[in-house]
Amino acid sequence: MNPPTMPRVIDAAFQEAGHLAPPPTASCGPAAHTIGLQQFRSTVGETRRPLPYAEGWFLGCFSSELARGQVLTVPFMGQELVLYRTHAGLARVVEPYCPHLGAHLGHGGKVDGENLVCPLHGLAYGPDGGCVRTGHGERPPRAALTARHAREIDGAVLVWVDHAGRPPQWDVSHHDLGDFSSACYIRKTLDGYAHDAVENGADMVHFGWLHGLSDMTMSHRADDCRFEISISARWKGLHIRGEFMNYGVGYVMGSFEMPDLGVRLQTQVFFTQIAPLKWKLAIADRLRIVRLGRAPRMLRSAIYAVLTPIASRWMRWFIEPDFPIWNAKSFIKHPRLTAGDKTLIVHRRWASQFYPGGLVDDPGALQHAGDHHAP
Ligand code: FES
Ligand SMILES: [Fe+2]
Repeated sequence: MNPPTMPRVIDAAFQEAGHLAPPPTASCGPAAHTIGLQQFRSTVGETRRPLPYAEGWFLGCFSSELARGQVLTVPFMGQELVLYRTHAGLARVVEPYCPHLGAHLGHGGKVDGENLVCPLHGLAYGPDGGCVRTGHGERPPRAALTARHAREIDGAVLVWVDHAGRPPQWDVSHHDLGDFSSACYIRKTLDGYAHDAVENGADMVHFGWLHGLSDMTMSHRADDCRFEISISARWKGLHIRGEFMNYGVGYVMGSFEMPDLGVRLQTQVFFTQIAPLKWKLAIADRLRIVRLGRAPRMLRSAIYAVLTPIASRWMRWFIEPDFPIWNAKSFIKHPRLTAGDKTLIVHRRWASQFYPGGLVDDPGALQHAGDHHAP
């Protein structure tokens, strides 16, 4: 049996909703365990309607937050999930309550080898969630934790969501991050809709108006559960190329390249609705500087240790203008559109497949894209 591990609750700040926490900071190395909650608006008079929880793959936690033997609790789509890593290194995700008498496994549960042991009477649950033994020598009852389908890829533990209870119907791809620096993390909990941030990547007009990009072009390719967006633009005179691969509506693998500087920033962005009108943004940034390709490994690491946090701070600075807007905006299912909203419209039609009941009240309204005189 391993020494007890303290339970960890990610998003403690959220659970004390209404209390202000310090503003978010970028952190490198093991992901930070606190999340800034900044209230931009009063919740009095809330008239926005939540969207249904989406289906697909969503972030449980970053791999670096879950050491062997560690147990974490995370808020996730109106409930909590318990994540733990076995001593063999496998990340597992279960619903929190012990089927014996209801103890919360994230509050005192311990990893013992490949099992998760309940703090109240010591029932141990195996990799498939089934009870494998009691803590006092009696025969285990026929009981099982509800295990959630999870997969760990590219530094993230992803949880599968399917309202019909089906196993994963599609997958995300592995991206080779071997040439990049280690990650710096940005985390933020916001009011409103995770989907606004997902759709933000397809909103070409706002990149100029809000983020100051110019000479922008955008193209896209929808392919089943993937939606790839390519952009080319200028930021303060520098050429930026970007590729964003949307895996459903929970995860985007983004790649920014500044060819003039020989710099590439690989940015994983995760969007998780944690409660109605409350969602979590989590970003992992990794840097690659082309000219450092042949530098000795130690020198490269030393330079990345300085430059990756700077790149991550730039990323946070770049997306920060979105925060107060996402925090306060409503999700309009019957938008009045302009010609510049073309990619956004296609993206919204594509994204509809992940939401029970869809995202679009009136498909006809979306077909009026480009008609400035639409009523
Ligand atoms: S409540 Fe978990 S073992 Fe009794
Ligand atoms: Fe934006």
